[in-house]
Amino acid sequence: MKDYEKLSKKHFNNQAYEYDSNNSYYYSKEGKISSYHIEKYLKNKKFSSLLDVGCGTGFLINLLSKEHNNTKFYGLDLSDKMIEVANSKRINNSTFIVGKSNELPYDDEFFDIVVCSQSFHHYPYQDEAVKEAYRVLKKGGLYILSDSGVGGLGAWIDNNIIFKLLPSGDCKVTNKKGIEKILEKRKFQIIESEKLTWMVYCVVGKK
Ligand SMILES: C[S@@+](CC[C@H](N)C(=O)[O-])C[C@H]1O[C@@H](n2cnc3c(N)ncnc32)[C@H](O)[C@@H]1O
Repeated sequence: MKDYEKLSKKHFNNQAYEYDSNNSYYYSKEGKISSYHIEKYLKNKKFSSLLDVGCGTGFLINLLSKEHNNTKFYGLDLSDKMIEVANSKRINNSTFIVGKSNELPYDDEFFDIVVCSQSFHHYPYQDEAVKEAYRVLKKGGLYILSDSGVGGLGAWIDNNIIFKLLPSGDCKVTNKKGIEKILEKRKFQIIESEKLTWMVYCVVGKK
């Protein structure tokens, strides 16, 4: 099997310093669609702790920190350069670390919210990543997962042909229905599920 983690790390280390300012498809276009949607979804909600898995440059945490002054934010990402950029922003009440989605270095039932924006399709261990999100969430906590992917033949072509050729660490896409199933399998209750564009969706699971 391809080493998706190694490829993702290399790809995003190369993109890190341009990521926020480059709005094209291969850079932050979808991340911004997902991040602005998550910001809106959380607007009037109160929560004291939030983890962003695959946080990249901290773009979403930066947005959220401006509205949620009493929240403690945590960001984790595979790419040390992305984390370097996130740290350079000196965002209030935030801590960023290098790590893997399938091995979260946090205690059980620690967070009110776990978000994951445009990162999930890079994970070779998707089930484990969902299991870890469930573990670190408090009871009643929310897992907000926004990603891109069509189902059916489109997903088959991406997963079996295109991703095998790409050097960017893209591993496995599924559609909104597929993500709902993955979350339900790990005992999340789906409380929101929305298509944001023809390709981008957001699913919210409650523990
Ligand atoms: C397309 S970027 C999205 C960044 C940001 N969340 C956004 O919405 O703009 C995908 C991010 O996922 C990170 N990533 C990929 N595989 C990962 C893994 N197994 N564990 C943690 N982060 C990972 C990459 O390093 C990259 O920063």
